[in-house]
Amino acid sequence: MSEDTSHFYVTTPIYYVNDKPHIGHAYTTILADVLANYNRLLNIPTHFLTGTDEHGQKVQEAASVKGITPKEQCDQTVVRFEELWKRLEIKNDDFIRTTEKRHTDVVQKTLQDLFDRGEIYKGEYQGWYCVSSERFLTEKDLTDENSPDYGRPVESIIESNYFFKMSKYQDWLIDYIETNPDFIQPAFRANETLGFLKKKPLQDLCISRPKSRLEWGIELPFDSDFVTYVWFDALINYISAVGYRSDESMFNDLWPCSCHLIGKDILTTHTVYWPTMLKAMGLEMPQSIFAHGWWLTGRTKMSKSLGNVVDPMEMIDRYGVDAFRYFLVAEMKLGQDASFTEEAFVKRYNSDLANDLGNVANRVLNMICRYCNNRIPPLPVLTTLDAEAGANEVLKAVEDAVTNSGDYIRDMKLDSAVALIMAAVRSINVYLQERAPWAAAKEGRWADVETSLYVAADALQRCAALLHPIMPEKMLKLRSALGVQELVPVLDKIRSFGELKSGLEVNQPDALFPRVEFKATELEVPKKKKKEKTMEPTTSEDGLITFDQVMAVQMKTARIVEAEKIEDADRLLKLQVDLGDEKRQIVAGIALHYAPESLLNKTVVVVVNLKPAKLRGVISEGMLLAASAGDELQLVSIGGDLPPGSVVK
Ligand code: MSP
Repeated sequence: MSEDTSHFYVTTPIYYVNDKPHIGHAYTTILADVLANYNRLLNIPTHFLTGTDEHGQKVQEAASVKGITPKEQCDQTVVRFEELWKRLEIKNDDFIRTTEKRHTDVVQKTLQDLFDRGEIYKGEYQGWYCVSSERFLTEKDLTDENSPDYGRPVESIIESNYFFKMSKYQDWLIDYIETNPDFIQPAFRANETLGFLKKKPLQDLCISRPKSRLEWGIELPFDSDFVTYVWFDALINYISAVGYRSDESMFNDLWPCSCHLIGKDILTTHTVYWPTMLKAMGLEMPQSIFAHGWWLTGRTKMSKSLGNVVDPMEMIDRYGVDAFRYFLVAEMKLGQDASFTEEAFVKRYNSDLANDLGNVANRVLNMICRYCNNRIPPLPVLTTLDAEAGANEVLKAVEDAVTNSGDYIRDMKLDSAVALIMAAVRSINVYLQERAPWAAAKEGRWADVETSLYVAADALQRCAALLHPIMPEKMLKLRSALGVQELVPVLDKIRSFGELKSGLEVNQPDALFPRVEFKATELEVPKKKKKEKTMEPTTSEDGLITFDQVMAVQMKTARIVEAEKIEDADRLLKLQVDLGDEKRQIVAGIALHYAPESLLNKTVVVVVNLKPAKLRGVISEGMLLAASAGDELQLVSIGGDLPPGSVVK
């Protein structure tokens, strides 16, 4: 984050609307929300922008698969993002869609201006084009006929196009990055960009697509045969949404942006294309561009084809929005990749939220109701005796959290900030254990009871304020239970001990974080024993597997002879399949796509050497192959009359 405290303007990438949102989209948006909330806690004027990237080939392709127009595709998908942000308690100040007039107008004005000033020219382009990443690749990027990003075939294309003179800014950009060490964060990502810039001459950027190939985009104002390259259009959202060329005073207030949050996958577009575009427009650079790592499922990249993509809606349904936000923030070391498994989630939930925070909250509220007539006890004068009984440790731990968690947040070490605040929470539990107000009450030492409960309640409301940016709903609930009137906290009000008003009425809500049990679900693969040979596909860094790994998977045709639903598992069906020389039971996550009776006698393809696993307590001895696109899923089935048990190669 930047040091500038006059305002805080934070952005997320704008997301493609070719598919529904997943945990990756949820993560960047939660991160931005936490940073925005933290700045609101500091009383800094904050502006938080997110939105959707609605043009380009991906969206056009997704629409044509469904037989709808690209605009219909956008309108249908954008709602899913908006719904998710609502459920995730995202408090963005603005949401921009790149199909909105306020954006398309600015893109066209910018293009015209750059064209008039000779920053854009017409030329001939011959190159290898990757449809998935919507970019031309250089020969060097290509190791074979496939795209290095997506492993899909690339197309050779020759065409007239318009180019932005990006190359002329190469030396300036190198110098800018070197003299502004906070511009690209973490530092190793700045080095990555510098490495790229110093390796070879920068090419000019092809910023148009002929309409003959792609219609779905913003028309170039100076040539109606072309639309704008989706990245050139998309990056401009960061300025079009805050008044560039439409509301000068808003733009002056908010630009330059404090922090563009991005995933590591879109580093080059943000640290090379965007700064050179801004430079050509004569605008200031953003103060920082921060690239976070990826969420992996276990150690494997999340991908639809592996079926291991975490759906944020499901997590919220099972564990609640605050716990989900907490896990993502506490678990990821910003900049590095992190692993998401439901088992790790439940473990952290139970230890941090149920045991530590939830437990201390229940104890404090319960005892105040019981021993202090539902009222916050009087502000005590702390004596040496109290110090001996640990009050000082609590005050110190809370003060440490109040003073230093902000530094961690500014340094984008959110996991360390959480650890510090949770240490303060745990110190309250230790204090209560030592002071034992329940024993003091039994002995009639009411002054002691009141002192310890005041110290604990005051510390708790301060910790709740610090955790509010991460868990807004539950922390508002906790502060309200403690009788605090200013529910949305401000840091200045929690800097010192004793701000909690005596006499406030306390209420005891239901348990804030009830303990949860981990049950293996469809998403979870059972843990394998150490040293055991595995058939699980292990991908290398580039996502490729070897020939041997492919050959290790044994597949056969099978006839479905029985199919039934599994109780309390909406997505699972229990199938009995005939493999010729044996029968097997398979649990498949296809209940939303197939009625059990429609599957009878279907010949499908089964992976037969998969280690048996239990799903919702039901043993599964194999896996069915299926293809999916968006919400659609279809089993791979075999026509003709091959007998069950035929080997699939
Ligand atoms: N539309 C472009 C961005 C244009 S910004 C001017 C785009 N969209 S996207 O829908 O593909 O979203 C990419 C972003 O989603 C990543 O940069 C990252 O923020 C987030 N994530 C997608 N998958 C992710 C993980 N598995 N883990 C963490 N975040 C990742 O690129």
